[in-house]
Amino acid sequence: MEKNSLRRLAGELKHFLQSRNEDEFIHTAAPTQAAAAVSRAPAGRVPPMQEDSTLRIDFPRAAAPQETPMPAPKPQEPLMTTAQKQAALQELAETIKQCSRCPLGATRINAVPGEGNVDTELMFIGEGPGYDEDRQGRPFVGRAGQLLDKMIIAMGLTREQVFIANIAKCHPMVDPQHPEKHGNDRAPNAEEIACCRKFLEKQIAIICPKYIVALGGVSAKALISDAKSLGALRGKFYNLHLDSVALPRPVEIIATFHPAALLRNPGWKKDAWKDLRMVMAKLGLKGPNN
Ligand code: URA
Repeated sequence: MEKNSLRRLAGELKHFLQSRNEDEFIHTAAPTQAAAAVSRAPAGRVPPMQEDSTLRIDFPRAAAPQETPMPAPKPQEPLMTTAQKQAALQELAETIKQCSRCPLGATRINAVPGEGNVDTELMFIGEGPGYDEDRQGRPFVGRAGQLLDKMIIAMGLTREQVFIANIAKCHPMVDPQHPEKHGNDRAPNAEEIACCRKFLEKQIAIICPKYIVALGGVSAKALISDAKSLGALRGKFYNLHLDSVALPRPVEIIATFHPAALLRNPGWKKDAWKDLRMVMAKLGLKGPNN
């Protein structure tokens, strides 16, 4: 073949190959409208971005920040008349007597809701009924109760002027198989305290005393703090906060030794008396000869 013919053939082949590559480029990457707009723009000026659904990235919308759910407002117990308090406490006592929410309901002889003056400014709260209380259905009627009566009288009051209740409303026993045994008492456990809590809170809210004396560590820890010891808690007043109900007016609480502990440790009576004198000062009481 002539040299010229060969050159012409090579040129045609080159041209053919170039045109194929351009075709392929055009068809493999059709420009988007936005890209086309950029390519049409005069050099150095980027045109405003145009809406192009192929470019849009639908990011998942961040969830709207959730507000911390507010706890439902506690129902506020109204300040009641004497008759309303008596009726409400009577109804509550009937509910307590029917209660079998914890195992103590199966072994008690009597539930012990509590008793006293519904209009009192002072309430005493012990830990739970013992042998005598279980038999009589009344709080603090055994030996510890006799000492409590003396403490109340030393303050210048009588048992009938205050309200006496317990954290647990039924007798916690070490050996529930033998309820006839003496010395079979124990402190209520966490489950028993939790089951009775609503009953006690309702009682406090209905009576709404000005001051509460928590008798012993179980009562103090349940009503003031679940962590500190009685030794760390006693000797000062705390504002009472209830879990299930809002009090109609503020109630202050102070902790002191349980009368049963004072019977075992008479040396502690001096400190218990200091605590009671703090309550007396608040109530303007001067003692038995007020
Ligand atoms: N101990 C208590 O805590 N409560 C009573 O009612 C009797 C003894």
